[in-house]
Amino acid sequence: MAILIGDTAPDFTAQTTEGEIRFHDYIDGSWAVLFSHPKNYTPVCTTELGYTAKLKPEFEKRGVKVLGLSVDKIEDHEGWARDIEETQGTALNFPLIADDGTIARQYDMIHPNADNTLTVRSVFVVGPDKKVKLKLEYPASTGRNFDEILRVIDSLQLTASHQVATPVNWKNGEDVIIVPAVTNEQAKEKFPEGWNEVKPYLRIVKQPGA
Ligand code: BEZ
Repeated sequence: MAILIGDTAPDFTAQTTEGEIRFHDYIDGSWAVLFSHPKNYTPVCTTELGYTAKLKPEFEKRGVKVLGLSVDKIEDHEGWARDIEETQGTALNFPLIADDGTIARQYDMIHPNADNTLTVRSVFVVGPDKKVKLKLEYPASTGRNFDEILRVIDSLQLTASHQVATPVNWKNGEDVIIVPAVTNEQAKEKFPEGWNEVKPYLRIVKQPGA
């Protein structure tokens, strides 16, 4: 059955480039990003892994642990990691799972109508409560935008602790929207500096904490 937003991210134990990991223990109260790669020694994946390694300080700043997955053997991961460092200028600095297909199937990362053996480019953002907060799927031929994944994490973390939603193309620090469930009476308490009521259902407010 497909894993949907709001579901508990299935637990698993995996062999990785940083030793054995049990996913739920690895999350350990942090946020997590689990993302899959079609195959080792492939060009798009090589660029994605190098760029994600470069973003490590950004993930750390947000309390996010990153975990990659490719259905290949651990020995192959180690060789590929050397290529990633050589070609992308940054060494892998997060665990890369060596999967035999078990986790890929558990997470529906293989789409038979796309390819029966390769995983698509899946991304799962998991919260500290181990629930899936975001799910993205790209075809093998299209590299993902990891800056967008950071942007979504900013929105997820903000909206988890304030009764706001983020508008189209929002970036951290920009104005946000008061969620419809909050009445104007309640909004006066939560947002004492006021808001701009464009329509009764569209109330723009400064980002809390910005
Ligand atoms: C890649 O990562 O470059 C790739 C993998 C599978 C199909 C196409 C591209």
